[in-house]
Amino acid sequence: MKIIIGTILSILLISLISSVDAKDVCTGLTPANGTQIANVASCSKTALGQIPTVNHMTSTIITKPEFGQTLPINKNFTVEVKIINLHTGFFSNPETQYYSFSQTLDKNGKIEGHSHITVQYLGLKATPDNPPDPRTFAFFQGLNAKAVDGTLSQTLKLTEAGFYRICTMAASFSHQPLIMPVAKRGSQDDCIRIRISEH
Ligand SMILES: *[C@@H]1O[C@H](CO)[C@@H](O)[C@H](O)[C@H]1NC(C)=O
Ligand SMILES: *[C@@H]1O[C@H](CO)[C@@H](O)[C@H](O)[C@H]1NC(C)=O
Repeated sequence: MKIIIGTILSILLISLISSVDAKDVCTGLTPANGTQIANVASCSKTALGQIPTVNHMTSTIITKPEFGQTLPINKNFTVEVKIINLHTGFFSNPETQYYSFSQTLDKNGKIEGHSHITVQYLGLKATPDNPPDPRTFAFFQGLNAKAVDGTLSQTLKLTEAGFYRICTMAASFSHQPLIMPVAKRGSQDDCIRIRISEH
């Protein structure tokens, strides 16, 4: 008798949990529509899409400037980025097709997408005590072009002395973060710190 009641209770509990699971996560939220919805929480039903094998996971290194390099203020410099296993040059219209379709692979099994460079001012310490505000950046640029010999580059100029973090942000064709096949892996992106000096 105890076993039967226990079984019935377990079945009830499991069905309760799965009905919570099955609840539409988008209920009550603004539906995604291909625009970038910044000020209200929204909800996308785009599927994750095509996922590469572990042998085709994206990896990035910033080759220029060097990590920790000091560069002069108000002077152009070039950031160079090398990426493997990202078929670059795939960049949907971010005004109308943001998150609007699933991740795609090319015929060789590599993710089709693009990367970005985002630069944030850290102040006078290379490692500030608090994370920088993601709404604020000193420089941002999509690397929309196709890589030349696996290298993407971007010229920029920084106008305040201090430390900066330069990061890449790789994305799929319609701008979602890259979807990878396994959780335990190396990062798909790279970040470096540099210092901008008045002298
Ligand atoms: C997309 O949704 C946002 C948020 O609801 C709305 O402000 C915007 O007008 C919509 N744009 C289009 C093109 O449907
Ligand atoms: C600095 O870079 C900008 C943007 O690429 C370019 O228009 C400008 O001519 C460059 N200035 C110098 C001095 O190279």
